[in-house]
Amino acid sequence: MLKSIIEKALNKQIELEASSSQFYLSMASWTESQGLNGTSSFLYQHSDEERMHMLKLVKFINERGGTAVIPALIKPPTTFKSITHVFECLLEHEINVTESINNIVGLCLEEKDFTTHNFMQWYVAEQLEEEALARTTIDKLNMIGEDKGGLYLFDRDLKVASSNPE
Ligand code: FEO
Repeated sequence: MLKSIIEKALNKQIELEASSSQFYLSMASWTESQGLNGTSSFLYQHSDEERMHMLKLVKFINERGGTAVIPALIKPPTTFKSITHVFECLLEHEINVTESINNIVGLCLEEKDFTTHNFMQWYVAEQLEEEALARTTIDKLNMIGEDKGGLYLFDRDLKVASSNPE
């Protein structure tokens, strides 16, 4: 049986994963409207992955005898200053997600809930990858700067990456 303090923390994480999915959906739509179709495919896919992160938590809470709460969604921003700004927002958001996951892991240890602690390790590893990917992407965009040809190739690479997910 899930302790209520853990259940509450996991439900908060559901909300954060759902808001990530919604935020990245908005980024996908904006980049699509800018003609960056590869970037938008990548972000649509990323949005779907966040929904999957949310669903994993919903199922885990319910399987452990708790009650998953499906949250209302907050409207994300609809425009961004630039493609670099999109990925800066994404990185900032992922850093918050990592902090939240680390807090849950700490709470699991305090409460001696080793089952949830074990379950959360998947999220710990995922965050490491997601933050690294966001940082590499920002580095690439900074390297490209105002070079339109570079941006074209960047967008094409993301198209390839999103049609061959790992
Ligand atoms: Fe599910 Fe990107 O955090």
